[in-house]
Amino acid sequence: MDKIIIHGGKKLKGEVIISGSKNSTLPILFATLLSDEPSIIKNVPSLADIDTTVEFLNFIGKKTVKKGNTIRTYSSCKYKHIAPYDLVRKMRASVLIMGPLLARLNRVDVSLPGGCTIGARPIDMHLDAFRKLGAEISIEGGYIKTLSKDGLKGAVIDLKFPSVGATENILLSAVLAKGKTTIINVAKEPEIEDLVDVLNKMGAKISGAGTEKIIIDGVDSLRGFTHEVIPDRIEAATYMIAAAITKGDVVLKNVTPKHIEVVSNKLKKSGLCVKENKTSIRVKWVRNLKPQNIKTEVYPGFPTDAQAQWVALMCLLKGHSKVEETIFENRFMYVAELQRFGANIMVNSKVANITGVDKFSGAPVMVSDLRAGAALVLAGLAAEGKTVVSRVYHLDRGYELLEKKLKKLGADIKRVHS
Ligand code: UD1
Repeated sequence: MDKIIIHGGKKLKGEVIISGSKNSTLPILFATLLSDEPSIIKNVPSLADIDTTVEFLNFIGKKTVKKGNTIRTYSSCKYKHIAPYDLVRKMRASVLIMGPLLARLNRVDVSLPGGCTIGARPIDMHLDAFRKLGAEISIEGGYIKTLSKDGLKGAVIDLKFPSVGATENILLSAVLAKGKTTIINVAKEPEIEDLVDVLNKMGAKISGAGTEKIIIDGVDSLRGFTHEVIPDRIEAATYMIAAAITKGDVVLKNVTPKHIEVVSNKLKKSGLCVKENKTSIRVKWVRNLKPQNIKTEVYPGFPTDAQAQWVALMCLLKGHSKVEETIFENRFMYVAELQRFGANIMVNSKVANITGVDKFSGAPVMVSDLRAGAALVLAGLAAEGKTVVSRVYHLDRGYELLEKKLKKLGADIKRVHS
């Protein structure tokens, strides 16, 4: 298993190019199943989750090839309707296979995804929505069996929470349903807008993306598309916080500043110099930063996927701060690892109370999930001495060329195989 070794204390300086969004690419890849025509997706990050999805699509019967940062899918018309455990277990987003296959084949059997380290993450909202669209659902032998004998029919779906995945799965199925579907209380994340952009390029009739209500007028068939994925706002947030925690001066290129405004504004409030241009952001440390409380919320609120990185930064600022997690129930798993650097954090259910310490000292630490891993790397960059990060396969799910990008910014970081 690979490990990342960091000798901390270097100020990050220079330019970093932000990759395409992982969370946008995944549903867009599943959208290719909605058409028999070929499609081209550009600005795709090279990540384990993308490889898993490519493998998944090929298994289902959609020939998909990734070359560099471009993915091509080819003409196809015969899909399997069974998604086995081996493919589903690797990635929760695998449940997005359900929407398109239900729409195309009127049936899909997907192995239950199971829990994950950041919480139970049920898919009840996805299943309730499919039922509303006319599917019958049963659980047999560890599989969710979904069947819509007479095809899907448009419906009004009122989500109890604006779930990103449920919104995506509804979009991926209702586009080919008969009649009109209205989704109320939908997720407003930029990744939803990107998916809707793709679906409309394919000939779908969807309006309202980015608002609380999306309306889909079902169509009979969809065509292929060419699309460039939006920049990864979470990777961008991570590099902004990396600049702050190392007292550096970093220019992020290929970003959409609006998508990450909430993090930029918090950093500005903290005292960091943040200058946004059209597609770049410069983040420069000029004075000691002040702690800032945050509460994770759905977009445009503070993203839960940047929470752990924020906590790492707050740990090194003089004073107290409070970080409240409202999206996932188990997202403070990394706290015990941050304490190994010398962090002073008390977790009380959904809230982390942080008291700043003067410095971190490097330590051996273990990654429990993707964003936890990012927080530990940031802590290692700021710490005195050597940090050894193990279980880095979690990081490979979501950060393209992590060590290379950090090294280019001046970090003393390397990967070793052991
Ligand atoms: C997506 C992102 C993830 C991000 C999250 C919240 C991808 C691949 N992943 O995950 O990085 O952290 O959005 O911004 O895009 N829930 C239910 N029932 C459901 C569905 C969700 O109770 O049927 C709960 C979840 O357990 C969680 C909350 O709703 O507590 C948010 O989940 P959701 O928005 O669906 O996140 P994901 O789509 O899984």
